[in-house]
Amino acid sequence: MSIGKNIIHDSSRGHVTGTSVFVDDRAAITGEIQVGVVGVPVAAGRIKSINSKRAELVEGIIGVFTAADLQHNQWGAIVKNQPILVSDVIGYIHEPAVVIAAENRIALEKAKKLIEIECDEVKPTFSIDEAIKNEDFLYEATPFVQGDVDKALSNSEHRLKQSFECGGQEHFYLESQATIAIPLENGQMELHSSSQHPSETQHVVAQALGLPYHHVTCIVKRMGGGFGGKESQAAPFAAMAGLVAQKFNRPARIALSKDDDMMMTGKRHPFKNFYEVGFDSKGKITALKADLFSDAGAYADLSSSIMERAMFHIDSAYYIPDVLITGKCCKTNNHSNTAFRGFGGPQGALTMEDLIEDIAKVVGIDASEVRKINLYGQGINNRTPYGQIIDHNPLKEMTEKILKDSQYSKLRKEVEEFNKIKNGKVRGLALSYTKFGIAFTAKFLNQGSALVNLHLDGTIQASTGATEMGQGVNTKIQQIIAHAFGISPESVQLMATSTEKNHNTSPTAASSGSDINGAAALKACEKIKKRLCVFLHKHWSGEVFNDVKEIELDFEGDLSHIEFRDGLVVDTNSKNEIKLTEAIKMAYLNRVSLGGYAHFKTENLGFDKSKCEGRAFNYFTNGAAVCLVEIDEYTGELKVLKTDILMDLGRPLNPGIDKGQVTGAFIQGMGWVTHENLFYSDKGVLLSHSPTTYKIPNIQDTPREFNVEFIENHENQQAVHRSKAVGEPPFLLGGTVFCAIKDALRYRVADNRITSPATNEKIIMKLQKAT
Ligand code: MTE
Ligand code: HPA
Ligand code: MOS
Repeated sequence: MSIGKNIIHDSSRGHVTGTSVFVDDRAAITGEIQVGVVGVPVAAGRIKSINSKRAELVEGIIGVFTAADLQHNQWGAIVKNQPILVSDVIGYIHEPAVVIAAENRIALEKAKKLIEIECDEVKPTFSIDEAIKNEDFLYEATPFVQGDVDKALSNSEHRLKQSFECGGQEHFYLESQATIAIPLENGQMELHSSSQHPSETQHVVAQALGLPYHHVTCIVKRMGGGFGGKESQAAPFAAMAGLVAQKFNRPARIALSKDDDMMMTGKRHPFKNFYEVGFDSKGKITALKADLFSDAGAYADLSSSIMERAMFHIDSAYYIPDVLITGKCCKTNNHSNTAFRGFGGPQGALTMEDLIEDIAKVVGIDASEVRKINLYGQGINNRTPYGQIIDHNPLKEMTEKILKDSQYSKLRKEVEEFNKIKNGKVRGLALSYTKFGIAFTAKFLNQGSALVNLHLDGTIQASTGATEMGQGVNTKIQQIIAHAFGISPESVQLMATSTEKNHNTSPTAASSGSDINGAAALKACEKIKKRLCVFLHKHWSGEVFNDVKEIELDFEGDLSHIEFRDGLVVDTNSKNEIKLTEAIKMAYLNRVSLGGYAHFKTENLGFDKSKCEGRAFNYFTNGAAVCLVEIDEYTGELKVLKTDILMDLGRPLNPGIDKGQVTGAFIQGMGWVTHENLFYSDKGVLLSHSPTTYKIPNIQDTPREFNVEFIENHENQQAVHRSKAVGEPPFLLGGTVFCAIKDALRYRVADNRITSPATNEKIIMKLQKAT
């Protein structure tokens, strides 16, 4: 049985031996054209003219294209307000404007430098503060309201009125945006794209090229990481490759350089949140009034949904009786910000976790105690700011366990002692949580599909609506299918995702890839199994099998006595058994279908914005972390000495893969709140646009001691095989490192408030104020 086992990731050998094929690893096709893109030189204003004469003279350049060459030049995941190629009003610096087609990449690089774009420049807006001043918003969310916040605030013993800021984050997937577009006969187009959202890529490319959807197929074998950065933003680059392929009727390949990718694509949204909180002398929160502002950049992209998810996570894991939460997406002249692991959740939750540290300081109680008394309860204190009632909440038990396992009290005493001695080092300790809502908040996206084909040798090929980006969704679905047929996972091969096999797919996002597509795969297996069972039942009971009549899925008899296990099909009543391979052959010869397609939709969802109630989420994935950090007071350098993580992943489908997801997400979250800092020039040029200037965590930054454990939870009936989604939730636990930094600073400076990321520079500047 494969469920719950540590089956190795189906690409792990390929990845470490370098044989996994990513888009740009695909062998060149005869006649293939290389595609490059040039962006505008200013952040705001209008394009006056584009001169490509000098570029066209470069040997090997065969064409230069602009917006005028596209049939349709508007795209956007929610609001279609973004041009694929800008032709008039400029959104941001380096915004794609010109596409170059070349016989080789050397010519391409040469020509890119020779494109001249003349612009009328106007004063750009780069900051949230400026956008607020100008009241320039792309979206204003419907507020979340519970109770009477003003009254509750005025009745509170203590109040804090302040703001919290967190920065953006580069996705830093190792594989840049890439697509190969191959023209087929009759104007059809095949796309091999590094996209989390093959259906949207198909649609955007079809529209851009003036093709009906059935003439465009998007195929995704795998991505070299996506992290949200390829949910919406893969599509416009695919359209550029498609444009060239169509113009020349030759295959065309685009694979952005790291620098182009970093400068042209959107990142995590920076947020600035203003709030007033009320609490009592024990630190119990009584009311919260918060106004959230994100830097959406130049276009809408997914910003509205991201803002809403930030609002959905402002509570982190704590009950707040009276609330008023508003959210606005600021329009700026920055790259259009987009999905990134957590999708606004981290920006909301960190605001609260940061705030808890401040409350603890005001009331003079250890922050872990303040957290404990504010946690959502069971049966009481369980209504969220958006009116969803939290059931099955293991946060209390998880807290007890992690405080004990991490030896929190002992560590606290050690930190106190350690910090008494001024030896140039100061330590900090923190506990914090993740309670991540699982479901797309746009209800219609909560659907998945799968196609499962059983071959005559007993092996299976399957493809689903999910795309593989390293997270292991294919391996998990491989396990689900193998389990369903009682065969070994090696007999199941997950094939590339393709819009030809699964249509109208949702993006692989919101951590729900295996929840929805895994459930669809299971349904598809059940359909095939039912046909096999009906056939075998008739065969074993001596009924004449009528192969003219199709075996219908509405057969009403009981088939539960027929089981699939260890490569056999067994009738536990009659004790008949047959090898699965034999059963398949017999079924085939009797003209029984061995293929299955299924569609799955998540039940019981529905958030009513106007009433601020209902079920926004299917369930929550919970986690807790304790982090111990040490800061060098002379350099501001940070070391994470110890991290303990406890996750609630229900019954994990593959604990090994999930452990990888938990550690990876935590480290990525830690990077966001510590080292990862986006620097821009005063013209808006991203200065940190390569690995030399943008620092993601490396092996030295990982916790010296790193313990990851899962609680036992068999109760989650909301997801396939009682598992829980894992991809994004542990990202939020990275915030524990931020809280631990604040805790360390508390021992040395009166004002320990710091904005995220708490870089070494910011830390040392804080500490120097102490002397
Ligand atoms: N893990 C790896 N290795 N690479 C990725 O790009 N993306 C994350 C997460 N884990 C990502 C990853 C994000 S943002 C999401 S939403 C989920 O995986 C998507 O996959 P799932 O829904 O199958 O978990
Ligand atoms: N999460 C992630 N991606 C999304 C969502 C969401 O809630 N909605 C649309 N794309
Ligand atoms: Mo993940 S940000 O939902 O792709």
